[in-house]
Parts: sequence; structure tokens; C-alpha cells
Amino acid sequence: MAIRDIVKDGEPILRKRCREVEVFDDKLAKLLDDMKETLDKADGVGLAAPQVGILKRVVIVEFEDFFLEMVNPVIVEQSGSQIGQEACLSVPNRSCDVERPNRLVCEYQTRKGAKKKITVEDFIARIFCHEIDHLDGILYYDKEYKG
Ligand code: CO
Repeated sequence: MAIRDIVKDGEPILRKRCREVEVFDDKLAKLLDDMKETLDKADGVGLAAPQVGILKRVVIVEFEDFFLEMVNPVIVEQSGSQIGQEACLSVPNRSCDVERPNRLVCEYQTRKGAKKKITVEDFIARIFCHEIDHLDGILYYDKEYKG
């Protein structure tokens, strides 16, 4: 595994739409392993592939004892709403409130390509939304909640 550099806001790659993953190979596994190591080092709660310079639909989420890798994640259902503060490893020294669904269902694939579905709530649902937005070039402050 290797720690990768985290791309900072202002670099065009963070505003691009990521491609779907079609090949579930060792290169994908290495990307996921490196993302985990990079996230752990940065002490964050989630990381999306464009944040390490890769335009693929790959994210990881890690909060307390929850850890999940998602390839090609798609939010297929959402309900409720929560307003809370967000920040981003790619946007240093900044944070703002964002409104997100309180509960969502997400379909994704594992690093081996298996299709899965998960339901998450509260803060983990917020992380999912934030990371999946990265795959479409959206940064959390684009959605700043101003009341
Ligand atoms: Co972020």
C-alpha cells in the first residue's frame, strides 16, 4: 500500500465526472488499498478516487467501526433530511452546513464486482452523499445550507 497525495480544491480534476469502473482487477484493488491508507493518515471519514487524482467511480467511507468500499455507487432511495456541518480533505480550513437526506439506500459493487445494496442513516448517510457527489465533480460547499 502507499499513501497518495490528496488533490486540493482549484485543481480541475475535482470538477470532472468520473467514469464507471468496468474492470475489477489488481489495479482497482491497489487503488482501494491506497485510498484506505491515505484516508487513515489524513484522519478523515471518507475519500473519493478523484481526490487522489483518479477519475473512477470509487469511494471509501470510514466512521468509527463502520468501513465500506464502494465501486460505482448509486443512491437509489432517500428520505428525511438533516442539516449538519461538512468539511473535506480537498478543501482545507473550511466548513459549512449542508442539507442531506437522513436515510438512504445505495447500490454499489465490491472490489471484485459483486453487486450489493446497503441502507444507512444519520452521519454515515451524510458521508455517502458527500463522497458520491465527488464522483460528479460536486464539492460540499456547492450545496451550502443558508437557512
Ligand atoms: Co470531500
